[in-house]
Amino acid sequence: MKDVGIDAVEIETGKLRLDLAETFAPAKGEAPEKYTKGLGLYASSFPDVYEDIVTMGANAAKRLMERRGLTPADIGRIDVATESAFDNSKPVSTYIAGCLEQTFEGDFHHANKGERKFACVAGTQAIDDAYNWIRAGRNRGRSALVVATDTALYARGDPGEATQGAGAVAMLVSEDPDLVELSTEQGYGSADETDFLKPNQQFPSVDGKRSVQVYLARMREALVDYESVAGDVHPDDFVYAPFHTPFPGMVRKAALLAYRHVTRDTEVEEELAAEIGRQPRPEAFDDEEQYFDAVAEYTDALKETDRYADWYDRVIDPTLDISRHVGNWYTGSVHVARAAALKRAHEEGRDVTGETLLVASYGSGAQAEIHAERVQHDWEAEIESMGENVDAQLEDRYELSYEEYETVHDAHNHDKETDFEEFTAPEGEFTFDGWGRMGERKYSYVE
Ligand code: CAA
Repeated sequence: MKDVGIDAVEIETGKLRLDLAETFAPAKGEAPEKYTKGLGLYASSFPDVYEDIVTMGANAAKRLMERRGLTPADIGRIDVATESAFDNSKPVSTYIAGCLEQTFEGDFHHANKGERKFACVAGTQAIDDAYNWIRAGRNRGRSALVVATDTALYARGDPGEATQGAGAVAMLVSEDPDLVELSTEQGYGSADETDFLKPNQQFPSVDGKRSVQVYLARMREALVDYESVAGDVHPDDFVYAPFHTPFPGMVRKAALLAYRHVTRDTEVEEELAAEIGRQPRPEAFDDEEQYFDAVAEYTDALKETDRYADWYDRVIDPTLDISRHVGNWYTGSVHVARAAALKRAHEEGRDVTGETLLVASYGSGAQAEIHAERVQHDWEAEIESMGENVDAQLEDRYELSYEEYETVHDAHNHDKETDFEEFTAPEGEFTFDGWGRMGERKYSYVE
């Protein structure tokens, strides 16, 4: 059987930055700690007026192809995962291929292109599609380019406005990958939910509080399903656990529940028993409410233990290093979490070759998926250049005032037709040039 997985990754952030504590919170009359402590977010990335899902995706893909010395002939498949598409027929992957053909020799005429939709879990599904295509032997030695790209904007005044973001993650899926190898073991938690949706509208309809509960419920279901195929999970089985990160506070909640679940009936539960007791079991309670109260009490106590805090700091916190400064990137978010964790390992001089990642993806509507990945020998070279590039991009972002933020939001609102000045000057990148005669979007490369 061929080893198949993620061979290379590049990240492109929107070029504008909104400071949530210093700029957004005061304008909303809120405490900065709601963002930094509650949601765990410091800043959001926004696209400048000439950036969108196509430019960000194409810029990330171009950098990836150049760094790896690839030509279009090496790519047999381009899949884009997004929930910010602007066309119900023509896929974003055709636009991205069109951009890349402006700068590379050759074309992608023999590459299969598509677009994947299931809210934020679509990026992971597109990787699955690429994996299956290669394992089925249909790739003719070529790799798949998977691009997860979104402008995660909410209507102004929606509580989700606090968690906005914009960026793209380009990933190369190949045989004998350099970064992580995927496995066939997966767990799913999937149900028909109306927590977050965009029924033919640009900005989402969201039931925020419910969406948090649905995330946790589906994640739990996926973990149980994963254990049914891969065996019981132990918290020390994996070096990092990248989760879909709409905001870091969400991952904080999910990680605690997952830890409680996977330590039940283990030596960890026994060792913690002297400090916080054993986990409540339903059979010990007369009614469900009492049982749930006891579980909530145990979970609160678990969170305060050194053992849990140490595990969280090692396994979860590194996955949030980038998302704290960029906000939600929907389909790209879990892939940013993986990249952030490996970037931290590199910065700390930690060799994680051969170690396992437990990757927990989620999309509203709703579906969670959990699988394991094995870190490959060449991970560090791959992550080093990506990491330097991400740091430089984050550092170079233009700092928005609140009034400028409102302008940017309007500039990206498809219902508003005003000319907006750009905040930054494009250089060596693809840019959006305006709409064409059939309602298509037009792009060019700026040297
Ligand atoms: N100091 C410290 N903490 C504070 C604080 C302060 N001064 N003020 C508030 N907080 C804390 C709150 O206690 C809360 O934390 P807990 O949940 O742990 O109690 C946190 O900050 C957020 O405060 P609120 O709940 O009051 O915030 P809100 O009502 O404005 O809404 C939200 C939060 C519902 C998540 C909202 O941002 C939202 O709707 N977001 C979009 C939907 C979303 O991201 N859902 C996540 C799951 S769905 C998904 O994952 C898919 C996806 O990508 C969208």
